[in-house]
Amino acid sequence: MAYGLNLGLLFMTRKFSRVCFTCFERHNVVQVQPFLCGLRSFASDPDDSKGDSRSSDASLTPPFTSPSLSHRASLLGRRRPLSPLERLSQLLPEDTLSQEVWDLRDKRNSEVDSLESNTENDVKQNCQNERLEKDEAASHEQATAHASVSGEKLICFGETLLAEYRRNRRMEFRKMFQLKEGLKIHSNWGLIAHDDIEGHPAGRILHTSMGIPILIRRPSLEEFTLFMKRGPAITYPKDASAMLTMMDVTEGDCVLESGSGSGAMSLFLSRAVGCKGNVLSMEIREDHYRRAVLNYQRWRSSWSIRHGEEWPDNVHFYHGDLISVGSQLSGRGFNSVALDMINPHLALPAVVPHLHSGSVCAVYQANITQVIDLMEGLRCSALPLVCERIIEVQYRDWLVAPSLKKDGTFNRRKAPFEDDDESEPREDTEDLTPFGDVPYIARPHPEQTSHTAFLVKLRKILK
Ligand SMILES: C[S@@+](CC[C@H](N)C(=O)[O-])C[C@H]1O[C@@H](n2cnc3c(N)ncnc32)[C@H](O)[C@@H]1O
Repeated sequence: MAYGLNLGLLFMTRKFSRVCFTCFERHNVVQVQPFLCGLRSFASDPDDSKGDSRSSDASLTPPFTSPSLSHRASLLGRRRPLSPLERLSQLLPEDTLSQEVWDLRDKRNSEVDSLESNTENDVKQNCQNERLEKDEAASHEQATAHASVSGEKLICFGETLLAEYRRNRRMEFRKMFQLKEGLKIHSNWGLIAHDDIEGHPAGRILHTSMGIPILIRRPSLEEFTLFMKRGPAITYPKDASAMLTMMDVTEGDCVLESGSGSGAMSLFLSRAVGCKGNVLSMEIREDHYRRAVLNYQRWRSSWSIRHGEEWPDNVHFYHGDLISVGSQLSGRGFNSVALDMINPHLALPAVVPHLHSGSVCAVYQANITQVIDLMEGLRCSALPLVCERIIEVQYRDWLVAPSLKKDGTFNRRKAPFEDDDESEPREDTEDLTPFGDVPYIARPHPEQTSHTAFLVKLRKILK
């Protein structure tokens, strides 16, 4: 009966459990300690809940029940409420906990209440031993798994990579480069030979000639566009994503873009339309046209080395003036248009006839005065366009990290009652779990992304 009772209780809400706990204790139905243990085993390894051992009271004792908690609970006849961090700590699988957490838990367990029985100590010891064995097996498993993950490609010559060095939460060094035989990465932090990088999995830390740890990994498309060589300013990734949403770009779409600039927006469009779609990108300046094509090719070639398959060749770059482009567009229709160029309102008469009715032309303008010019251009024209929205995309970066001392070690949370005269510890600070021991900095980041552009959403509507 006790077994059934405990199993049922495991699935009750904590609030309800707390009420039940008080009732049971008052009526002496079960002893305090096993009951508490039953509740706490909620977070223990799922394997622990299997098998016959579950039927004995001792087996319900989890490895890390707080002695002071049970002691206080039995004295006060009520349970201390769990902090959100404590709840989280209990819900995490044991094999994901760091050594720091285990050390702190072990430390707590060694402060065993003298009222607790020897049997309980034995069970704890057994559980601890079991956990150590499990840890050993898990770390061995992890080491094997990290050596080669199914489908993972090792770094090859020809790939575009990122080298990064962070210190004290600051990015000290970041460089995008193409891996070539015989070359070296030069930095104030020492050298790394490209030959020493080849053959490693991406996302590995290698050390420079000065012993500085540098992370070597593959850049995302966002990072590639931010670090690639530029002609003119690019459409920033955050704005590019919003434009794709605004234009509702879907796989298989046919999209018109101008100007190509450095080719950043072209790459985002290329990914969005996929192998069934295509992008026509128009650029008036020859040097910008070349730059856009080079960046596009560089991304595609690195991609094919990394994935062993081609990135779709779906962007067609044209060198020409969109305003007088008539012949290039004749007979073509577009699901959407992206304009990032000076005086876009002058290009609209050439573009709008080729835009599907009900579809969107998204315009990217750095200054609000340019947006006003665009609106005035629209007002003075008879184009079938309505402005639906003008937005600015703003991300707010946050800094959430453990608070550090000057020497680089973690600060520890101080229990306020330590210096108090009160004999009883305060309920909200007692028995902190390892997850509550380190105070965190949690506030908006001191460095924020500044203004990039305004996005104007124009829709073609036939009257
Ligand atoms: C800010 S850049 C575009 C950047 C591009 N969106 C990217 O993500 O790399 C603006 C480009 O528009 C081009 N441009 C300006 N007027 C144009 C026109 N009438 N026809 C075609 N391109 C034009 C400029 O030469 C310039 O390269």
